[in-house]
Amino acid sequence: MENRSQWGTRAGFILAAVGSAIGLGNIWRFPSVAYENGGGAFFIPYLFALLTAGIPILIMEFTMGHKYRGSAPLTFSRLHKKTEFIGWWGVLVAFVISTYYSVIIAWAISYSVFSFKLSWGSNTEGFLIGDYLKTADPGVMGGLVPGVLIPLIIVWVVALGILFRGVKKGIEIANRIMIPTLIVVFLIIVIRAVTLPGAMEGLDAFFKPDFSKIANPDVWVAAYGQIFFSLSIAFAIMITYSSYLPKKSDITNNAFITGFGNSGFELLAGIGVFSVLGFMAAQQGVPVNEVVSGGVGLAFIVFPAIINEFPALNELFGFLFFASLVLAGMTSLISICETYIAGLVDKFKISRTKAVIFGGGFAAIVSLLFATRGGLNFLDVTDYFINQFGVAVLGLVEVVVVAWLFRKLKEYQKHANEVSDIRLGSWWTISLGIVTPVVLGYMIFGLFKQNLTKAFATENGNYEGYPDSLISLGWTIAGLALVFAIVISLVKWRKSTEQSESIDKREAK
Ligand code: ALA
Repeated sequence: MENRSQWGTRAGFILAAVGSAIGLGNIWRFPSVAYENGGGAFFIPYLFALLTAGIPILIMEFTMGHKYRGSAPLTFSRLHKKTEFIGWWGVLVAFVISTYYSVIIAWAISYSVFSFKLSWGSNTEGFLIGDYLKTADPGVMGGLVPGVLIPLIIVWVVALGILFRGVKKGIEIANRIMIPTLIVVFLIIVIRAVTLPGAMEGLDAFFKPDFSKIANPDVWVAAYGQIFFSLSIAFAIMITYSSYLPKKSDITNNAFITGFGNSGFELLAGIGVFSVLGFMAAQQGVPVNEVVSGGVGLAFIVFPAIINEFPALNELFGFLFFASLVLAGMTSLISICETYIAGLVDKFKISRTKAVIFGGGFAAIVSLLFATRGGLNFLDVTDYFINQFGVAVLGLVEVVVVAWLFRKLKEYQKHANEVSDIRLGSWWTISLGIVTPVVLGYMIFGLFKQNLTKAFATENGNYEGYPDSLISLGWTIAGLALVFAIVISLVKWRKSTEQSESIDKREAK
């Protein structure tokens, strides 16, 4: 008899899944991705990706975790011995993501403190790149930056502290506190944002559709990439979390709540961000597109500049914004780390405490790379490669293996329907069996072609001037995740793991 940890309540599981989904991806990534890819018109590929890939894969991962009751590696090895490496691949992709994700949270902690005195001054770009990150030339590592190192230590102490306490007492309680707080704080920010002068022009820029972009395959790649990262699918997380579900748990309804909850928050973030961008543009008397910037630039350069201009309570709103980044990031980081902690516990039969120390400790050490003066450049490249050639490719492999190689869709559909309020019909099987493999397959083919011809370095403005060594590092990290996954899957399981048993088989005994 196994005694796998379990969530205490249904709400606890949903909050943890929503907490994993809502993260840095929603706040700093979605608004600029949507804007760059056609604004209002982006919602068409976005909704298509959500309904034909995002939610169907989420349901598939919830079903697999619930049915096989294991970490991602154990789940895939219970599906078939030969597919264990897919589980490890997801775990290793998650490992890589945790090493830089933690660093962005560390920056947000610093910026929460900087908010008290608006320490970033008027040149917010110079402050981020120079004064704070002390960025070296691309490819150069330089020493550790103490201003990043200290909050990074705090991030790891908090995250690993919560993980030590386990699923119910640690992860569930943390999400029960952090997610409602995040939603309240974020609502305050958004209400203030939409009532600022110029907000309507910002929203107009965000929602006004640019239909000329919709035929461009890159826009579709962006929509799928956003959905995968944002929903925490195809990197082991949702399989791990659903493996802690009690036997009698709804699957499909929970997946819809998680999926729509995440997209709802994403939309809210978009509305908040574009309202303040509209405000900024009005202050400077320029069009909105001149103040938009993506990723790091949006959160840590444009936002501080906007906070400077706020009519009142600048320090408070600065603090609330960066605190919400910290909260959203923390609950996601915990879920990302849980993938390898669960994998280590299952495979090597070590205690949870040891798994947290080894897995989390190792991730913390690797994360130091991103706390060096070269950190920003390493982060940029690692994020790009691990998302495109980790998450997206893994999503495709997962779907093809389940739907086509092992033809498991009908069996999983039956499993989900037995426990769920909403019954899965042909929408689900067609989405996973046909639509997702075709669209994703086509996209990934294009992605390889583009990157192998090195268009990446030139087409993507940010990467101009990056040395080949940095691009090779990106390929190496993405490649090693797969190689190590195969190697670990060849190691024998420790004695007592009932590797081949799913929930159904054990119950039949
Ligand atoms: N799903 C998490 C995010 O959006 C990883 O940041």
